[in-house]
Amino acid sequence: MTQRRRAEVLRIAEEHDFLVIEDDPYGELVYVDGADTMAMKSRDASGRVLYLGSFSKVLAPGLRCGWIVAPKPLLATLEIAKQAADLCSGMLDQSIVDELVAGGELPPQIERVRAFYRGKRATLLSALKEHFAARATWTPADGGLFAWMTLKDDIDTEPLVEPAVAAGVAFIPGAPFFVDGSGRNTLRLTFAKEPDARIREGVARLARVFA
Ligand SMILES: Cc1ncc(COP(=O)(O)O)c(C=O)c1O
Repeated sequence: MTQRRRAEVLRIAEEHDFLVIEDDPYGELVYVDGADTMAMKSRDASGRVLYLGSFSKVLAPGLRCGWIVAPKPLLATLEIAKQAADLCSGMLDQSIVDELVAGGELPPQIERVRAFYRGKRATLLSALKEHFAARATWTPADGGLFAWMTLKDDIDTEPLVEPAVAAGVAFIPGAPFFVDGSGRNTLRLTFAKEPDARIREGVARLARVFA
């Protein structure tokens, strides 16, 4: 979201008196200079934004250890609800994360992870240019782990998941991300997991499925 949009969401939340959950696990994964990632929480004067962060995307995938910044009374209630839901997160994971953070390991680790993903992002973008230039547009993935692709033709991507998986490549169809029934010609692609050669091969196979 642009800063203008974030400010507007906050303004509407004030006007209608609702809480905002700012779910930001990818905020540290930025690949371009000068990106303005200031959180909505930073300008939350009335304590209505619950900010969620995660160590999963910068320390280890699947770690599932995160944090929350929220008004104290809400935190107390959330803690009780979480205990009822999962009997608390694992202490070992949290202690390891705590030690890493206290030892100043996080900033250099974030730099390493950014460099790692920046390369894979470039691979995905160049493969998309090679195979989809005439047929689709996509976001530059300036941050996070995904590119968002919009096909120019009126193709519904959801029925193509199965043939794609049969061809050895998976993607997330876009429609479930929309609330108004649109977005059927969109899809989400990740560059997080596979090595460069498989990213290139995956995009080539996807192009054949969409042909
Ligand atoms: C938007 C969003 N929020 C939260 C999460 C969960 O993060 P965690 O790995 O800390 O459970 C993810 C991904 O897993 C995500 O994509």
